[in-house]
Amino acid sequence: MATLIKDVKLENVPTEVLFDKHKEFLQSYEKDENNYEYGMTDYLRISGMYWGLTALELMSINTKNQKVIDFIVKCQDPESGGISGCIDHDPHMLHTLSAVQILVTMDEVNAIDVEGVVKYVVSNQQEDGSFTGDKWGEVDTRFSFTAVATLALLNRLDAIDVKKAVEFVQSCMNFDGGFGSRPLSESHAGLIYCCLGFLSITNSLHIVEQDTLAWWLCERQLSSGGLNGRPEKLPDVCYSWWVLSSLSILGRIHWINHSAIQNYIKACQDVETGGFSDRPGNVTDPYHTLFGLAGLGLLGDERIIKVNPTFCMPQAVIDKLGLKPQILS
Ligand code: FPP
Ligand code: ZN
Repeated sequence: MATLIKDVKLENVPTEVLFDKHKEFLQSYEKDENNYEYGMTDYLRISGMYWGLTALELMSINTKNQKVIDFIVKCQDPESGGISGCIDHDPHMLHTLSAVQILVTMDEVNAIDVEGVVKYVVSNQQEDGSFTGDKWGEVDTRFSFTAVATLALLNRLDAIDVKKAVEFVQSCMNFDGGFGSRPLSESHAGLIYCCLGFLSITNSLHIVEQDTLAWWLCERQLSSGGLNGRPEKLPDVCYSWWVLSSLSILGRIHWINHSAIQNYIKACQDVETGGFSDRPGNVTDPYHTLFGLAGLGLLGDERIIKVNPTFCMPQAVIDKLGLKPQILS
């Protein structure tokens, strides 16, 4: 049976990466607290800050900022220790990781109650080794990744049952070499990044069918040069990160056509407003701006500072912590 291929046509692709425009876009996004979009994205504020600030760091801008630190401190729940997306929201594993990533990058992790964060991550581990995203109980391999990434950044991986956590992630591996959100869920490039990131942190990449998975990841590249997250889906700039970081962890980033994906990423820039969107012509946002820039960084653009494929943070920060997530060669 033929596989349906969906793709986009690229027209008037900018020849350059518009760094100055992207800096302006991200810096004004941060300041414009009274606009409608800012109000409507309250629930993802902390992760939003991580996307914007990390994108700026990758463009060599020091983002250390007391207002951001104070805001994160106010988002930590004194009872559970977890961090929410916004003041007075429920704590969640995704925002807890984003907060720790921001603070570690700013060298200010002691501003929060670190043992509280450790307690929160531990409280979300289940009998079968999996993790929930919060107290409401959704299990997903994203949360296995956020758990070990948070603890590794705090040098407290010893606090959880790593062996059981690995067994759960292994139980989510599919016949095509990929991983889904839970056992028997379809392979998805975003979740493959989470599982490979998890396995890289826990030094367990030996369980992966490396060539089978790398081949599935390469098949995400479409004629436009862009990458999709699953068969039959449209390309999307964020998959430049989910797929390229996965291939980097597997030591096989050279399996993909570099100039074609670089051209697709450039096509997703808005030459007027700055920023990157998922597909050419769409509205830009900090999420796709981070993953567009980080993808170009993995492809070797020297104007972008070296990014670590496991943590999506500046390599210099990971080195300073003495972390050595496993990478295959
Ligand atoms: C696509 O989601 C992306 C994923 C499933 C991966 C998300 C990963 C994390 C939240 C972990 C933290 C990440 C970093 C970089 C530190 P989607 O819902 O947009 O998928 P769709 O394209 O299929 O709709
Ligand atoms: Zn996307």
